[in-house]
Formats: sequence, C-alpha cells, structure tokens
Amino acid sequence: MAGNGIDLIDRAEAAARLPEFGDLLRLALTAQGRARAPYSKFNVGAAVLGGSGAAFLGCNVESASYGATICAERSAIVGAVAAGETAIRACVVVTPTAEPSSPCGICRQLLAEFGPEVLVFAASSLGDSVYAARLGDLLPLSFGPRNLEAAAGSPNAEDTR
Ligand code: THU
Repeated sequence: MAGNGIDLIDRAEAAARLPEFGDLLRLALTAQGRARAPYSKFNVGAAVLGGSGAAFLGCNVESASYGATICAERSAIVGAVAAGETAIRACVVVTPTAEPSSPCGICRQLLAEFGPEVLVFAASSLGDSVYAARLGDLLPLSFGPRNLEAAAGSPNAEDTR
C-alpha cells in the first residue's frame, strides 16, 4: 500500500479483491498473444468486465501511421460497448514487463467514462506482480461531462461562427 490508492499486490490478492480476476487475466493473456505490434514489439492484452458480468478481450493494434494505433484497453472497451455493455466494472491489462505497466493516459481517460469506481489491475506476463487501483486514483480530477456542461453559455460556446 503506497498510500495513494495504488497497491502493488500479487495475483492471489487480486483474485481476493475481484473474483473475476482470474478469468479476466486468462483472457488478457490470450489477447496479448494476438497483439499486432510489429513496430514497438510491445504486446499488450486486456480484458474488461462489463456490467452484465460478461468479459471482453482486446489487444493493441499498431499502424505504420503510429498515431492510428489503438491500445489493448481501449480495444477491449470498444468490444464491450459494441456488444451492448453500458457499464464497465473492471479492466485487467497485461504487459511484457516484470513490473506491470499501468494504462496510458488516453486509456485512463476512456475508462473514466465509466466512472471513478472502475477497478484497474495492471498485471505482468512475466511475473506475479499486479498494480491495483480505482480509476479515480489513477486519474484524479479527470475531465468529464461536467466540464462540458459548465461551459454552456460561455463566450466560446456561443461563438460558433
Ligand atoms: N499500449 C497499450 O496497448 N496500452 C497501454 O496502456 C500503453 C501502451 C500499446 C500501444 C503501443 O502499441 C505499444 O503499447 C507501445 O506503446
């Protein structure tokens, strides 16, 4: 416990915190094997737990136009939403680093759409370590719909010319 809401734990403790962790990890490892990462060679797999209880996997898919790349976490979220999920309860991401790599800022931002209570587990395909955190602790003071609403009536909002 680092005191910031982000804990470095092991897989057993992750399963104690979220019963679906083992299934999500297996899916994420399967997805990692399907990653398309010819440029970075950094294969990432992810799995998200939808509000229905179903799980969805995703992997990173890279493009020669690097900015068109999609991360594993967002790939899994897209699959869940396309399947009809309206809530995301948890996300497990697996990276090929002994110390797990936590989701990038863009993925945190998309996860924030599903609220600060989303549980995020960053696991390693090389070892037992897992970072566990609430999304709200990974992305405090996040930009959200309230910011857009707060701008209504502002000079910028009216200036549509
Ligand atoms: N990547 C992910 O899939 N998820 C992250 O949270 C961080 C980075 C991918 C994107 C790119 O294909 C590769 O890892 C190297 O950045």
